Amino acid sequence: MATTTDQTATQRKLALKASELDTLVSLFAADPQRAVRYQVKAAGILLDYSKNRIDDDVLSHLMALAEQQALPESIAAMFAGDVLNNTEKRPVLHTALRQPRGASVKVNGQDVMPEVHATLDKMAQFCDQVHSGAFCGHTGKPLRTIVNIGIGGSFLGPKLVSDALMPYWQSGYDLRYMANIDGTDFAETVKGLDPETTLFVICSKSFNTLETLKNAEAARQWFYEQGGTPEQVQQHFVAVTTNIAAATQFGISADNLFPMWDWVGGRYSLWSAVGLPQALVMGFEHFSALLSGAHEMDEHFRTAPLDENIPVLLGLLGVWYQNYMQADSHAVLVYDTYLKELPNHLQQLDMESNGKRVTKAGVPVTEQTGAVIWGGTGTNGQHAYHQLLHQGTRLIPCDFIMPLKSHHQVSDHHDWLFANYLAQQQALAFGKTEAAIIQELTEKGMTTEAAQSLAPHKVMPGNKPCNSILFDQGTPARIGALIAMYEHKVAVQGVMWGINSFDQWGVELGKVLGEAVFDALNTGDVSAFDSSSVQLISLFRESK
Ligand code: F6P
Repeated sequence: MATTTDQTATQRKLALKASELDTLVSLFAADPQRAVRYQVKAAGILLDYSKNRIDDDVLSHLMALAEQQALPESIAAMFAGDVLNNTEKRPVLHTALRQPRGASVKVNGQDVMPEVHATLDKMAQFCDQVHSGAFCGHTGKPLRTIVNIGIGGSFLGPKLVSDALMPYWQSGYDLRYMANIDGTDFAETVKGLDPETTLFVICSKSFNTLETLKNAEAARQWFYEQGGTPEQVQQHFVAVTTNIAAATQFGISADNLFPMWDWVGGRYSLWSAVGLPQALVMGFEHFSALLSGAHEMDEHFRTAPLDENIPVLLGLLGVWYQNYMQADSHAVLVYDTYLKELPNHLQQLDMESNGKRVTKAGVPVTEQTGAVIWGGTGTNGQHAYHQLLHQGTRLIPCDFIMPLKSHHQVSDHHDWLFANYLAQQQALAFGKTEAAIIQELTEKGMTTEAAQSLAPHKVMPGNKPCNSILFDQGTPARIGALIAMYEHKVAVQGVMWGINSFDQWGVELGKVLGEAVFDALNTGDVSAFDSSSVQLISLFRESK
């Protein structure tokens, strides 16, 4: 973060607060209204942030820091289409993809909304054609299995959406994903596929990504091996890309091409035609509702005051823990099996965006930036890694996410799920003292000596922070709002750290080195490599 005198003063205040803040037990005891005061609701999402290690002073210093770092101006600039991605000289306008008809968003003076809505119309029409059978396989059979070929943002966000909205899938449809450059991924994805009823959707913003191109070529080859011809590729392959020329060269006809734009980052692209496979399986109206929910969150983020703004609060709380309390990871704990892909999507969204070491000006940052994002589904996680959350030595802030209503009423499962959702947060926040444990053990008949010996192992220190995030049900609109909420949280943190959250240069070197290793596997020329690489390449070559 670039530091002015004001910012330095605010940072000092925050550092002081971090060293002298009361425990959560004391903070709750001192203010019976704490939970009421520290909650916000927007776009159908409730955030209760009362179980964070904050008080009014911390919040007001964080808000001051946000003002000093020009966060409100940056939010306005993002929606206005300013070139926030300075290293790639691009605006950052995934929010335009969920603007309703009639809105106007300009890129280089040109309104892009007609193009956005024309693409949505084309998607809707294509969905209708596939559903009605007007667009069918080469033998006239309806297309019922969709295979998404794509990686990174062309896989993780879409997979999250299709899993989260599985209750909305039309019957008779299947959706599979092929992402990794791993023969196993390919073989398992095509296993049992019927070539007559399968539609491959190649999703690649660049149409230049090794994994996607290799998988697309292998899928086309598989199609030929099943009896398909080059002409029939048109009935079984469509593409979503900014690189129309490369997709055309691959053999996709103009009718089967769905455009996207360079002002949408890959990890923010699920709202574009990259969402075609999801729209195909659940119906376009549900995809539209996903966009509407995200737009509702956009409007909240754009207009709500900083201290009532969910993404701003989440982002600033992350800054607080990363920079003032030495946390270095953040757990995303979903109490909804349909949301099991959320941690994976957030890993790319957050870590590819904020895993940066220099500011926008190219100067090394002076604070920790992006957190390590990880997580999984509750209650499974409770029987795995929650031990470390409760009694480990690290401070790991958590988001607990849950719908109030399940899509499946099974016995009293949902009540138990909620009971666990809340109990974990209580245990983390308030813990259990040694005295209480000794008393409990002795009341159960243990000798005082034995109780004193066991108690340290059972102490729950508490004071571990978490957010409670709740919504009515995992509908398309709510899932849209939830994902948009995290997109904006990440953007907020990028502004606070003064970094570019919208490029990803760190992924490039590995791609270039991978090509050199691949060449060496064929030529055997290892003269340019270090001794470890030479040894491992030789091992691999000998195994062939
Ligand atoms: O290598 C990283 C990355 O560029 C991501 O940012 C992106 O989501 C992914 O690769 C896939 O890119 P594309 O959609 O262009 O194939």
